[in-house]
Amino acid sequence: MNSINHAPDLRTREAPLDIGGEAFRKLGHQVVDDIAEFLDGLSQRPVTTGESPQTVRKLLGADTLPQRGSAPDALLDEAADLLFDHSLFNGHPRFWGYITASAAPIGMLADLLASAVNPNVGAAVLSPVASEIEAQTVRWIADLIGYPRTCGGLLVSGGNMADFVCFLAARKSKAAWDLKQEGLTGGNQRLVAYVSRETHAWINKAAELFGMGAKSVRWIETNADQQMDTVALERQIVADRADNHLPFLVVGAAGTVSTGAIDPLPEIAAICKRYDLWFHVDGAYGAPAAVLPGSPPELLGLREADSIALDPHKWLYSPLEAGCSLVRDPNHLLETFSHHPAYYNFDGTQDDPPINYHEYGLQNSRGFRALKVWLGLRHVGRDGYIQMIGDDIALSEALSRAVGGCSELQVVTQSLSITTFRFIPPDLSDDPAVVGEYLNKLNEELVNRLQASGEAYISNAVVDGKYLMRACIVNFRTTLSDVEALPEIVIRLGTTLDTEMRPESLRSNRGIV
Ligand SMILES: Cc1ncc(COP(=O)(O)O)c(C=O)c1O
Repeated sequence: MNSINHAPDLRTREAPLDIGGEAFRKLGHQVVDDIAEFLDGLSQRPVTTGESPQTVRKLLGADTLPQRGSAPDALLDEAADLLFDHSLFNGHPRFWGYITASAAPIGMLADLLASAVNPNVGAAVLSPVASEIEAQTVRWIADLIGYPRTCGGLLVSGGNMADFVCFLAARKSKAAWDLKQEGLTGGNQRLVAYVSRETHAWINKAAELFGMGAKSVRWIETNADQQMDTVALERQIVADRADNHLPFLVVGAAGTVSTGAIDPLPEIAAICKRYDLWFHVDGAYGAPAAVLPGSPPELLGLREADSIALDPHKWLYSPLEAGCSLVRDPNHLLETFSHHPAYYNFDGTQDDPPINYHEYGLQNSRGFRALKVWLGLRHVGRDGYIQMIGDDIALSEALSRAVGGCSELQVVTQSLSITTFRFIPPDLSDDPAVVGEYLNKLNEELVNRLQASGEAYISNAVVDGKYLMRACIVNFRTTLSDVEALPEIVIRLGTTLDTEMRPESLRSNRGIV
């Protein structure tokens, strides 16, 4: 390869990307000032501008890779304006869509600090203090929810990845043959996983992408409260064994994505023991609620799990991205993920073995995600999380009461910090035999209109064929006046929509209560 020497003298090299200390300080101060002002004014902005992708794309200007660089101060100013004026703000007090938290300010600064030092947390020797901070973070997350602190674990990008890590460890542990050598075809049995109908779509991806196929997942029925029916679970396990399949995993939910339902985790734990299955808890959303004094036994059953997925970027309010896998016996992670290529010199000494995180999960080079989580835990401590999570739940209950007090709105579920409800025009029946699909269409369009309005942001759930509005509060900026404002907004937009959308067949006294 020809080396093209652009620099006249490489002894005094000036790399175009480098920024000296003095200039960096100036730029950094400006960025931090802009962020502080943005945070102070966040509640005055719309939650989103609701602009179309095309409109936003045009803001980026000419779509050609620049040949030459530009001054960083102007670039950072421009980027800040773009982000502050054209984003959806999950840190807004009225953002209650999906399960994305307001980001802890200390986490924002932690990310800057982490990327300044830029440790590679794949191997301890490459990230001495960062690896120890990650290990302590894992122990503290376990402590927070009452899981054994001797567990293994690591930080990953989010819930999907956290669940995948546990899924793979479960499969390696329970396969009756040498899965690493023989692969899935090594045994003559199909490995089967059991999940409730309300399980997040990560399980579809896991089954499809890790070579097992969608047919390896048994979707167990739920009861009226969206919890797994454990009688149906046991029946299915027995039937699969009789068919010479190999049941290996049951996933219980500590807070389902749609309604926050908590599966009967102690009962699932007992079934797993009885049939020698791996018990995984998907607590991506709800596991941190186990820190609350007086948590229900169904939730505290997560302490019996073989593994847990929990997302700091949900109810620990870390900035994206931060998920966490906890596995009761760390050896299961090593047996699943550890490899020792000849070019790694990471082993250390036997009497003081290092934690090399590349051996615990799917990633090789890894960023320092743990810092923002660790600093959040230190900033407010256990008490701070008890207060914030408890307040989010209290606000969700207050929302449920506020919605329940309106004749145009019907509360459908309330669990953890999720409330689902729907808009029913007071002169209409809610019986599908009378109104057909109209209420579903009306509520679906209402969610779209509300999302685009910027007044508040909620998402949707579908429960028993009903299209519902869904507000999930994982937001330490939300106040009681924010949640109390929602019913009026929904009724106002819903009433306008109803006049636009209602079919002739349901006008003038037909379909009317
Ligand atoms: C219960 C549950 N599991 C898994 C996930 C996936 O998490 P992520 O989006 O961080 O991958 C979610 C997301 O909302 C969830 O609620």
